[in-house]
Amino acid sequence: MSAIAHSRILGSGFVVGEHKVKNEVLSKVCDTTDEWIKERSGIEERYFVREGTGTSDLGLGAAKKALENAQVDAKDIDYIVVATMTPDYYFPGVGSLIQAKLGLSNIPALDIRQQCSGFIYGLQVCDALIRSGAAKKLLFVGCEIHSGFMPFSKKGWDVVMGESNEPISQEEKDWNSKFRHLLVLFGDAAGAVVMGPSEDGKRGLLGFSLHSDGNNVESLYVPSAGFKYRPYFSEAHVKEGRFVPVMDGRTVFKMAVTKMPEAVMEVCQKTGHTLDDINLVIPHQANLRISEGVQKQLKLPDSRMYNNIQRYGNTTAATIPIAYDECRTSGRIKQGDLVCFVGLGAGFHWGAALMRE
Ligand code: ACO
Repeated sequence: MSAIAHSRILGSGFVVGEHKVKNEVLSKVCDTTDEWIKERSGIEERYFVREGTGTSDLGLGAAKKALENAQVDAKDIDYIVVATMTPDYYFPGVGSLIQAKLGLSNIPALDIRQQCSGFIYGLQVCDALIRSGAAKKLLFVGCEIHSGFMPFSKKGWDVVMGESNEPISQEEKDWNSKFRHLLVLFGDAAGAVVMGPSEDGKRGLLGFSLHSDGNNVESLYVPSAGFKYRPYFSEAHVKEGRFVPVMDGRTVFKMAVTKMPEAVMEVCQKTGHTLDDINLVIPHQANLRISEGVQKQLKLPDSRMYNNIQRYGNTTAATIPIAYDECRTSGRIKQGDLVCFVGLGAGFHWGAALMRE
């Protein structure tokens, strides 16, 4: 049996939460403005799911679109990999839930937890599974529901979801505002790709450059729901707002604008390419200012950098497959183009992947 040189993406698709939330709506539930959010993050709107929708439901929606786009029947999928930091349940992961919802049984389903670099780490896992022959038609989903992190009360949620115009109390607004630097950034969405061996040995994933550094975990983490505590989740933690991620925005920002360009350069070097060879960089959509910082470091023109955070906010493991799908379907990426995915997130984990479309 001949060795498989590369895996490639055969199709892609994405879905977003059911309800669009513009910046102005968030200014009704916390002390923020459309102007501040746009200026500091580039975000104009994001989508939230209705309560009861699970990450696996969004993942399923994206999976169906990717399967249709790849013209692959769900029954031919022989491996599922899911990247998420917001699973339906503490355990099990989302992979087996999507498997069941697709009507598949007994194929392996694997979850990985690499937060904002989940899609890039996952691509390396998927590529290795395909090249080793362990998978022939693989479904890889990046999906997140961040709305569960939001500190709003039922009344606050009614406002956010457009079901009430009644003002919330100042006390609640003050509480929500403690988290305002974080809650304005995130959205709910899922992106998926179907992957398989590259037929011609030229197209597909060419290499990776991945890194982690656990020294600054507390710069971005959720300080509850962990087995350091007994019980692992408590009423006291809820009252203290410890279910909301803690984020030292400036540290994250600095890490991102330093490590992401380094990863791009490293993956070029590893695969024998130069920056000039890359047709398009698709960065994880953390913040438009981060993407602009990366673009500046790499001295890339706008035509070689893709951003869509304005429309979806930060959707963690879903940002890259969503951006990739938009680029493929709009013709921004053409067959033969060299595409670089790059991201950084909690852990810290970061890295880049290079792919010949
Ligand atoms: N609305 C209005 N004012 C706000 C808001 C808000 N939503 N959030 C913070 N502020 C205020 C602060 O209280 C502060 O006020 P002060 O000067 O009176 O103290 C002021 O704005 C400046 O706050 P900073 O935190 O210094 O603002 P900064 O310019 O650093 O922007 C931000 C904050 C947007 C979070 C930025 O640090 C950032 O983008 N960091 C990267 C974090 C990120 O992208 N995380 C995404 C998740 S992780 C990932 O995907 C990699």
